[in-house]
Amino acid sequence: MDGSTALSETSQASQADQDAFLAYARSVMTDERLEELAARHASAGSETKYLAPDRWLKEKWKLADLLKLVGTPPQRVLDLGTGAGHFPFVCRYLGHECEALDQPGIPLYDDLCELAGLDRVDHRIGPRQPLPAFERRFDLVTAFMVGFNTRPDGTLFDLEDWRFFLDDVRDRLLNPGGRLCLKMIKQVEREGPKYGDPELMALFESRGAHFIPKNRYAIFDPLR
Ligand SMILES: C[S@@+](CC[C@H](N)C(=O)[O-])C[C@H]1O[C@@H](n2cnc3c(N)ncnc32)[C@H](O)[C@@H]1O
Repeated sequence: MDGSTALSETSQASQADQDAFLAYARSVMTDERLEELAARHASAGSETKYLAPDRWLKEKWKLADLLKLVGTPPQRVLDLGTGAGHFPFVCRYLGHECEALDQPGIPLYDDLCELAGLDRVDHRIGPRQPLPAFERRFDLVTAFMVGFNTRPDGTLFDLEDWRFFLDDVRDRLLNPGGRLCLKMIKQVEREGPKYGDPELMALFESRGAHFIPKNRYAIFDPLR
C-alpha cells in the first residue's frame, strides 16, 4: 500500500453496516449518559472532544475496515492507549475479542471506557519496559494517536527503544504472523526519531511495515 491510499478512500463495508453500528452505539452511549459525563468532567481538557463520539466511532469503523475486521472471522485484538475505548467498542460489535490498555489517571477516559463496557488494563508504556502479561496472545495489536514513545526526559524513543517495543509485541503478545498497526502523532516539538524520518521508517520497513503517510500509519503485516 503506498502513500496515495488514504484511510478515507478504503471501504469494503457498506454504509448501511456503518449506519446500523452507529444506531447501536447511540443506544449504548445515550445523550443522557454523555450529558451526565459532560457535567461531571466540565473542567477536563481537550479529552472532552470524545464526549461527542460519532466522529470518533466513524473513524474507528473505517480503521476496522482498513484492517480487515469487517465481515471476517473473530480475531483477538489489543488496543494500546485506548483513550475512550472507541476502537475496542467497534471491534466487539464486529464480533472480535478486544482488550484495552491505557495509562491510569484520566478520569474522563475511565468513565468513557465504562460507558463502552470495557475493562481496561492500567499500564504506562515506557522505553525498554515490557508490556504486561496477558493470558492469551493476540492476532492484532493497535495503537492510535498514542504518544507512548516519549521518554521521561521528554525526548522520543530512539531506535533501540523502538526495537525493544517491537520485539516485545512480537515475542510476548502476538500470535505467529500477528499484525501491529500504529497511528503516530506529529511530535514536532520533541527531539528524536519521528514518523517520516528515514532511519525510523527503514527500521519499521525491515520489521514488516507498510505505510499510509497521509494518516501517519505504519501497518506491520505481519510484525517481523
Ligand atoms: C490522543 S489519545 C488517543 C486515544 C485513542 N487511541 C484514539 O485513537 O481515540 C492518546 C492516548 O494515549 C494514552 N497514552 C499516552 N501515553 C501513554 C503511555 N506511555 N502508556 C499508555 N498509554 C498512553 C493516553 O492516556 C490517551 O488515552
